[in-house]
Amino acid sequence: MTAPQTTALSLVDTDPAELTTDAIVIGVHSVADNGGDGPPGLAGTLLLASGAESIAAAFDGKLTETLARLGASGSPGEVTKVATLGTVAAPVVAVVGLGPEPTGAAPAPETLRRAAAAAIRALAGNGSVAVALPLPDDEDAPAALRAVAEGSLLGAYRFKGYKTKPAVRQPVGDIAVHVPDAADKTALDEVNRALVVAGVVGLTRDWVNTAPNDLRPPDFADAVTAAAGAAGLEIEVLDEEQLRDGGYGGIVAVGQGSSAPPRLVKLTYKPAGTGPHKRVALVGKGITFDTGGVSIKPALGMWEMKSDMAGAAAVAATLLAVAQLKPDVEVTGYLPMAENMPSASAYRPGDVVTMFNGKKVEVLNTDAEGRMILGDAIARACADGCDYLFETSTLTGGQVIALGKRIAGVMGSAEMCERVRDAGDAVGEPAWPMPLPDDVRTGMDSDVADISQVNAGMDRAGHMLQGGVFLREFVAEGVPWAHIDIAGPSYHSGEPTGHWAKGGTGVPVRTLLELVDRIVAE
Ligand code: BES
Ligand code: MN
Ligand code: ZN
Repeated sequence: MTAPQTTALSLVDTDPAELTTDAIVIGVHSVADNGGDGPPGLAGTLLLASGAESIAAAFDGKLTETLARLGASGSPGEVTKVATLGTVAAPVVAVVGLGPEPTGAAPAPETLRRAAAAAIRALAGNGSVAVALPLPDDEDAPAALRAVAEGSLLGAYRFKGYKTKPAVRQPVGDIAVHVPDAADKTALDEVNRALVVAGVVGLTRDWVNTAPNDLRPPDFADAVTAAAGAAGLEIEVLDEEQLRDGGYGGIVAVGQGSSAPPRLVKLTYKPAGTGPHKRVALVGKGITFDTGGVSIKPALGMWEMKSDMAGAAAVAATLLAVAQLKPDVEVTGYLPMAENMPSASAYRPGDVVTMFNGKKVEVLNTDAEGRMILGDAIARACADGCDYLFETSTLTGGQVIALGKRIAGVMGSAEMCERVRDAGDAVGEPAWPMPLPDDVRTGMDSDVADISQVNAGMDRAGHMLQGGVFLREFVAEGVPWAHIDIAGPSYHSGEPTGHWAKGGTGVPVRTLLELVDRIVAE
């Protein structure tokens, strides 16, 4: 594993026109027609965002016209670079589109997060960049600054990868966010938080992007425990023997097909002080590679199944952030890890498996392996005791069919689903509540065991819901819980856009951290 890349982040309150940095980022809105100057047909289509005033003045008010001639439209994520040639101190101004002028005073935080990321990515090769995007001067200021800070750092993320020749243009190494007062305590706290958050989101992405031959369950457990040990978290690791002796039938069944044995990693953060503290359990799916097993997947796109441990990576990352941010709540992460392979020792359709909570499961499709390892981990979390349980997994292709590549599906206790939706909205990781219908559960009645792992007729109707209905069987009575299916949002197959790099996205780390923060604030 390569060392995580580090980007410096600071605040600056010097006039942007006088900042000696390699490039400066400002924002521009698209407008219907403000009657301003511009080339024929393009007159008045652009409006520079607040924060850009001194730069606009240095260009004698001609910057919007130049931008229009250069083809700028102000659409979100568009980056137009302008050589300043002595007009301002920085040699380059990068103007990022913010979309139409917002009806409120300032753009939505997510607009800023995406814009900052797009600009920083477009400026790769520059050492230092200052970001002067529009920030409100009211109670919304911290959220806007958080978005710009996170977006800037996420835009500087790049997976080091395996290329023998390094890339010519390295990500920006030094970012300064322009604010009214660089000594403001709230603003400095946001910078520190953004460094922690972007650091662990980057680590999640690195783990997801790592080749699956380099991250088999024992490697993944070692990497997670090394990071957790350095962060001061309590660590428990169960190996294959302990899993067998402990009755973790689901993790053992999936893991038995691989020459690299399964693991269950438990990480605990305990706040200082006597408490009593609320206890939050986080569970994440850690399938280091999902071939489908005996019910093997088609070849096309199978390589993306190296991302089937995104849930576990996100939970581990959340614990690492929690260890640094020190919220006043107990947080425990459960990371079941296995490699789903077809082999002479693999589990098979027809097998009956006894899970950690004693339930007997009839296996019908070895490709529904996530719920097998998660059932055990959820039951273990409940046996340990918790006041809230959030589980996240790349569980079903049905999630992608139903909600697409950006919106996670969330199932569980109604109030917990709403929490996840609200937290996701706040951080720009949308999630949408889905039901757990009775008929989907009856469709999973098994002829021979307590429950079938999937619909008994292998009917894929309500595919994502089957996953949620199955996992519910392992949640102890009375525990508020939510299952967050991130099959789509955890991995970005297209070209980089906004804060999404190609490959692992780090979803839902920021949602989990927001959920923890909100529980503390209750
Ligand atoms: N890891 C997959 C789900 C997945 C699909 C994640 C696409 C990311 C992108 C999961 O283990 C799986 O194979 N699910 C099956 C379940 C089925 C056999 C009941 C699926 O979705 O087809
Ligand atoms: Mn599978
Ligand atoms: Zn899977």
